[in-house]
Amino acid sequence: MSSHAPPSSMAAFDFLTTPYQLPCGSVLSSRLVKSALSEQLSTGEGGGVGTTGSLAPTQQLIQTYSLWCGAGAGGGAGGGGGGGRGGLPSTESSVPPSSSPSSSLGMCITGNVMVDANYLESPKCVAAKSNAKSIQNHLWRAWRDTIVHSNAVAVVQISHPGRQTTISNGITPLSPSGVPLRGIAGHTPLIPKPRAMTQTEVDALPEAFAEAAHIMCNDHGFDGVQLHAAHGYLLDTFLSARSNTRSDKYGGNTLRERGEVLRRCAAAVRRAVGPKRVVGVKMGRGAFGQVADDPSAAADAVALLSDLWDVARIDFIEISGGDYENIDFMRAPSAAGVSDGPYYARTVCALRDAGCKQMIVLTGGVHSLDDVLKARDAGADAVGIGRAFCARPAVVRPALLEPPASNDWEAYRRHVDAALAPDDRIAHVVALKRVQWLKPLDLFLSGIEVTWYTSALQHGGAPPTFHPIFQTIHLLLLTAARAAWPRRGVWKGWLHMVARWARGVVNV
Ligand SMILES: Cc1cc2nc3c(=O)[nH]c(=O)nc-3n(C[C@H](O)[C@H](O)[C@H](O)COP(=O)(O)O)c2cc1C
Repeated sequence: MSSHAPPSSMAAFDFLTTPYQLPCGSVLSSRLVKSALSEQLSTGEGGGVGTTGSLAPTQQLIQTYSLWCGAGAGGGAGGGGGGGRGGLPSTESSVPPSSSPSSSLGMCITGNVMVDANYLESPKCVAAKSNAKSIQNHLWRAWRDTIVHSNAVAVVQISHPGRQTTISNGITPLSPSGVPLRGIAGHTPLIPKPRAMTQTEVDALPEAFAEAAHIMCNDHGFDGVQLHAAHGYLLDTFLSARSNTRSDKYGGNTLRERGEVLRRCAAAVRRAVGPKRVVGVKMGRGAFGQVADDPSAAADAVALLSDLWDVARIDFIEISGGDYENIDFMRAPSAAGVSDGPYYARTVCALRDAGCKQMIVLTGGVHSLDDVLKARDAGADAVGIGRAFCARPAVVRPALLEPPASNDWEAYRRHVDAALAPDDRIAHVVALKRVQWLKPLDLFLSGIEVTWYTSALQHGGAPPTFHPIFQTIHLLLLTAARAAWPRRGVWKGWLHMVARWARGVVNV
């Protein structure tokens, strides 16, 4: 009998399908969370200060969510889970209800939605508020309905890219102290040197996050929001001692002191959305970078989490890591076919040992059924999944949450392992990331990998029409051209021509 004996498969299934009630009252009908995946499918054109579109979700984005959530997977709004939805105006939806709430995603976290349309993570990402006159309410509502009617709790990730704002925005990136990125990210012309925010600008951040949260929950009807304080974006850089060297009330020697901005933003968001909506935070390197190896860092982190509970009744914490200096959340496994996940299980153990009682979603490297059990055993309450949802959008949820026919638990394990495994179609790029002397190119190689998964996400899991290396170069050139030349259309046309030519060469 293998180490994946049926009893452990059953145990994993039981864990995954056990509901979880959040402090705000919403109920996750399963422990499976779709983590934020930047869809880059908005109605926007241009980017940043040059944005002309409304930066609303497109139909293509909404269709992607019906694959992820499973149109009709749940019991419909108000049925089974989603206890925090009382009082929302009812809306029509094309998504039919089904009879199996426990096979629904527990929580579906959207890709990052920008709090300020002048600072976009990518030119086609969605923003809570744009300069366009038409808000296109029906698209936002259709997006929300697709998730909610599948019975998943619908949470919008709200974010500011901070010092990782690319040049295509036509604006100087913001950061706590003007510290630039290290590594090749800091040396590319695509990410300009950031400037330090003034105190007045920092004072205004809580209002910006609160307004975005209000628009998402109160205007568009989502169940809640997640503040993105991971992956090197603005809130993460305030937590990190390296990027936050401020001497005012927003800096300090301890994590707790540097947590002031996050505390204020979380409190303002909670005030904006009220006690019954979900408010979560995704945190990573800035807050938890040292936690796994240093008990005092774990104690500091738990003190900050307990502050967040006191000021904002935070419902859950999602744990991740990495940033553009080191894309750790896309870490290459040490050997082909071996799962090194879950990446941050030791961080979860350390936080639990230090007394953390809040709900933890562990994301990153959950690539097999064994990884699900390791996450549970480390103390996680739910698992967050990213890349597998890009590559196999319609497969992940049913593989993990639907009981196996004829109680065949060995077959269940096989299905789950196949659904969560890293995608073979991009394995050659991941293999290069394992080569020691190519480490300086890690960001570029990870960029190719992210581009591949983004393309898969946008096309229902289908592979890109041409190699992601060319896509990445195309994207980099496009970004540079957008920034460098006001007559964007001309440049874009030329670049598309070159890209078409490159595609032809590759296909020969
Ligand atoms: C294409 C792509 C887009 C992503 N976009 C976001 C995002 O918008 N916000 C975020 O917090 N994480 C984002 N991530 C990171 C994922 O949420 C997740 O942390 C990461 O993929 C690790 O989980 P995995 O091992 O299951 O893939 C993205 C990852 C990928 C591959």
